Amino acid sequence: MGSPDHFNQRVMVTPISTKRVEDVKSDALNTLLHISDLDSLDEWRVQYLGRKGQLTQLLRGLSSAPENDRAQIGAAANIAKTVLEEQLRLREADLKAEHLSGVVDRERIDVTLPGLPVPEGKLHPTTRMVREITTAFASMGFQIEEGPEIEYERYNFDMLNIPSDHPARDMWDTLWIDQARPDGYRPLLLRTHTSPMQARVMENIDPPVRVVVPGKCYRYEATDSTHEWHFYQVEGLAVGEGITFADLKGTLYEFARRIFGEDRKIRFRCDFFPFVEPGVDMSISNFKDKDGNRPINRDEDWIEILGAGMVHPKVLEGVGYDPDRYTGFAFGMGVERIAMLKYGIDDIRLFYSNNTQFISQF
Ligand code: PHE
Repeated sequence: MGSPDHFNQRVMVTPISTKRVEDVKSDALNTLLHISDLDSLDEWRVQYLGRKGQLTQLLRGLSSAPENDRAQIGAAANIAKTVLEEQLRLREADLKAEHLSGVVDRERIDVTLPGLPVPEGKLHPTTRMVREITTAFASMGFQIEEGPEIEYERYNFDMLNIPSDHPARDMWDTLWIDQARPDGYRPLLLRTHTSPMQARVMENIDPPVRVVVPGKCYRYEATDSTHEWHFYQVEGLAVGEGITFADLKGTLYEFARRIFGEDRKIRFRCDFFPFVEPGVDMSISNFKDKDGNRPINRDEDWIEILGAGMVHPKVLEGVGYDPDRYTGFAFGMGVERIAMLKYGIDDIRLFYSNNTQFISQF
């Protein structure tokens, strides 16, 4: 019959011994040599030094060792533990340093490289044009006003000498918001021009009046390269005592020169708008120079840019001005059209394409 120790040694798969401790230690140190990242290092720590790790298990099994050997095995195991912990610490420090220097390498900033361009915002060409136009008139003594885009039929048409049965309403294809109702409800529409502001301004202030009104307008119209169903206009109105057609000409001549250049000539031709009498359209000159080039890239000597005229007496009367005492002139222009001429843009739809490449050119 063998001794209990002998018995124990036979049944234990890996009986605890100094040799066993040394094996685990050198095994651990060998494995450590191949570890190259922090995650694997942590797995290594769990495998050898963790609560269920190999070395920890050995220490726990110390009681099963022959009593005489226990002190020696225990000491060896503690040394092994210290060595492994120390190696763990060193390897961890190395790997962290390596990781950091990798990060630094990857994220190194070369201060000699040119900077990245910061995208710069630009004003929309319509906005720029509105500002150029209104600034030109402001410097001639005009105030800048704005009005509603949703407008009463009354201001858009009736107050401008365009009663509901008047065929001239066909000149402005209208987007109606509401039709008339028997209860006296006043129909609404999207204004087809900025002219309703003529009546609104005159209702509010006594003469003399000098205003320009930039704003969005809408028409129920098919679009093509020269037509949009929404667009901007700038309206102008000057009313007072003794204002004549000569004032209209002088003011618009000065405007044309400021926007399109000093050498500009202007031409007026008769035109019809129910709210002016006489009514005109104005064109700017576009003659060939001695090399055969034109200031505006269009094969025309004259380019129409706006409608204008002397304010109709009925309009003055309608807002309570005495037409025998006061006279005035009004004009209206399409902002995109002016911008197209000035900047050489050939399709009005580009203004509303939401295309920043287009916008950034101006
Ligand atoms: N409102 C007119 C239009 O949109 C332009 C205009 C304004 C004509 C003022 C004469 C006077 O066509």
